[in-house]
Amino acid sequence: MTITIDAPLDMHLHLREGDMLRLVAPFSARHCAGAVIMPNLVDPIDSFEKLFRYRSEILAACQDHCFEPYMTLFFRAYRRKELELLKDHIIGIKLYPAGITTQSENGVKDFDAIEETLSLMQQMKIPLLVHGESNGFVLDREREFLVTYREIAESFPSLHIIMEHITTADAVAFLDEFENVSATITLHHLMITLDNVIGDLMQPDLFCKPVAKTPRDREALRQAVFGGHKKIMFGSDSAPHPRHKKECIGCAAGVFSAPVAVELLVQLFDEEGCLENLPDFISANARQRYGITPPQKQITLSRTPWQVPDDHGGVRSFYAGKTINWSVV
Ligand code: DOR
Ligand code: ZN
Repeated sequence: MTITIDAPLDMHLHLREGDMLRLVAPFSARHCAGAVIMPNLVDPIDSFEKLFRYRSEILAACQDHCFEPYMTLFFRAYRRKELELLKDHIIGIKLYPAGITTQSENGVKDFDAIEETLSLMQQMKIPLLVHGESNGFVLDREREFLVTYREIAESFPSLHIIMEHITTADAVAFLDEFENVSATITLHHLMITLDNVIGDLMQPDLFCKPVAKTPRDREALRQAVFGGHKKIMFGSDSAPHPRHKKECIGCAAGVFSAPVAVELLVQLFDEEGCLENLPDFISANARQRYGITPPQKQITLSRTPWQVPDDHGGVRSFYAGKTINWSVV
């Protein structure tokens, strides 16, 4: 049995820079037609020069693969002139609350001070991508941030807001309240709960922000995704860190899923008997919500098992050492 997918898209991807970029980019570029590239580099992408330099570095790292990097800017107070210059070269602007995750120190400290930029973004039809967590207790962070999502969605009714990597039943329900709000969901949050991270021996490979939540939350994500929710897009949040930064005191947050993402998604949808809903999740919903036309690219998978390597050049991927039933032909 085989399955063919048109233009798989990863709507939330960390590619890093330098050697790490060259190591990880081909894993996404070989299967995906495009991906939304996160701007949280050590020196965040927040200017025309940085954006173009980074885009060229990415294209070089993707070698001969046909792959569109949909670039994002790191949110700050942008002036109209800057956005006019940049808007045709970005898919959106990514907002991080200050200090909430990896390399987000320059994020937003005062949510009352961002209205002017949001208003410009709404006028210019630039989507707002958000890491939606408060500074509260770790399991409550996403739910607490819904207050902020609500304020923004109500104040800017035609601003396209994307709740990135949602992990809770509350966030799924929130999608029904506002037409202008979409969401991404990762592969790993469809598969794991907090028990997999810390319920037995602690698993640094599975530690990420937002952390995986309860079985009830995971069930809500699975029902929405496998049931064909039209406002939810696949965004892997694949976030590589070298093993010495994961397997140490002060483990970095991030799950590196790019090497297994497409194959495992096919496996999950197959197990749930809903392969017919995979094209929407992995491509069509993103095309529709963002209004993008990705490069033409088709990949075919067959039911051929393979074992995920333990290590990819000093980075350990999600599902390392385990067997996946589907391979890309
Ligand atoms: O786990 C995460 N890792 N969550 C994020 O939001 C950022 C990412 C990273 O850049 O490592
Ligand atoms: Zn991310």
